[in-house]
Amino acid sequence: MDNKAILTYIEDNKQRFLDELFDLLRLPSVSADPKFAGDVRKTAEMVKARLLESGCDNAEIIETAGHPVVYAEKIIDTSLPTVIVYGHYDVQPADPYELWDSPPFEPIIKDDKIFARGACDDKGQAYMHVKALEAMVETGSLQCNVKFMIEGEEEIGSRNLETFVKENKEKLAGDVILISDTGIISNDTPSITVGLRGLSYMEVEVTGPNRDLHSGVYGGAVANPINVLCTMIDSLTDKNGRITIPGFYDKVEELSAADREQMGKAPFDIEAYKEEIGINEVSGEKGFTTNERTGIRPALDVNGIWGGYIGEGAKTVLPSKAYAKISMRLVPNQHSDEISELFTTHFNSIAPDYVQVKVTAHHGGQPSVVKTDSLAYGAASKAFEEAWGKTPIPTRDGGSIPIVALFKEILKVDVVLLGFGLDSDAIHSPNEHYGVFNYFKGIETIALFYKHFVELKK
Ligand code: BES
Ligand code: MN
Ligand code: MN
Repeated sequence: MDNKAILTYIEDNKQRFLDELFDLLRLPSVSADPKFAGDVRKTAEMVKARLLESGCDNAEIIETAGHPVVYAEKIIDTSLPTVIVYGHYDVQPADPYELWDSPPFEPIIKDDKIFARGACDDKGQAYMHVKALEAMVETGSLQCNVKFMIEGEEEIGSRNLETFVKENKEKLAGDVILISDTGIISNDTPSITVGLRGLSYMEVEVTGPNRDLHSGVYGGAVANPINVLCTMIDSLTDKNGRITIPGFYDKVEELSAADREQMGKAPFDIEAYKEEIGINEVSGEKGFTTNERTGIRPALDVNGIWGGYIGEGAKTVLPSKAYAKISMRLVPNQHSDEISELFTTHFNSIAPDYVQVKVTAHHGGQPSVVKTDSLAYGAASKAFEEAWGKTPIPTRDGGSIPIVALFKEILKVDVVLLGFGLDSDAIHSPNEHYGVFNYFKGIETIALFYKHFVELKK
């Protein structure tokens, strides 16, 4: 493959590559909110059209019980290796809108960054693969087959993708699954994600009296479910930052001192980290570094809590109900269903007599680790070396992509997490953005991955 031809092609088509991404970013494909279902579908249609224009021989929108999957392929010779690209075209809700400096679905470039919901997670990153295909096809350098599977439900837990993958095993046959939906340490320090955390996501409801009460007439004599919920939540972690749910750590894989030392070598600027998110001090499980706390240790967080009166002014009320959404990030070899069960049992057991508790589980997912001794990892490493001039560092990320573990289990194919985002890209937050540099460098790196993968496969 002629890398120079690819670079020239990218350079000559820069503006169009950006314009096409902008068209995609203008569609509010929020999978969580039924009000956007029409836009989610329009986005799937646009992705399909672009895949066809960019060199795929066929592309289709495949229905699921929820939002559709876009499948497309470019088969040049069935005796050659096949790369399967996974990504997601759905995005997180953009709320709260008022905290955005520019509207979330009107992409703009400021300071060499593309600002829009989905710019990094994952439209920008998924679209790099579409443009890498185009660049390879147009320069005559594609030497393997490519299959695309771009889904519309990642941000709501990929609920229907397991069924889709199981039902389409043959269609999805290939040699590697390539995903850009993670990040690198920094543009000076490229890295490859080799671990993702799993997830158990719970919702709890605490009920006290059978109706909202006057907080003067009853206050002090009847338990307030919000107070009780706060006490219960507080008890879920101890003073050492450890989760108190019995059995929670039983299956947690403890890394060897050598592995931890190796992990600790990755450059990390704790002062810059604190400054970027505006905190004075970090906090977490005692005995572990910040990177270990997100990479190899589980965590429990309240994602939302509500109840009582939250409107203007003051209303004196002792509420009947209190609610919270609680997530637990999991590490190997914890199991999402087991942890959800442990949580439910424990939460019920700590409920005082004066309230009733209801616990329900939302979506979850398994943690995953990626081998660094696979041929696919080797190709990714070489691609970074060639494009970035540096050997990438393997890192474990704190986020979750539930389908990764299932891909390995169902399709029995190696996964490579070739992401190019930065922690500061504000994914899921207001003012999400993606560096223009990362977008184009990503396209180049992806094309090089194909080159090295094919060479190593020979
Ligand atoms: N792309 C992210 C996951 C991610 C982000 C991994 C940064 C590594 C680094 C993905 O879209 C995501 O947000 N996943 C969800 C899980 C899902 C079940 C809602 C998450 O991690 O909260
Ligand atoms: Mn994502
Ligand atoms: Mn996401």
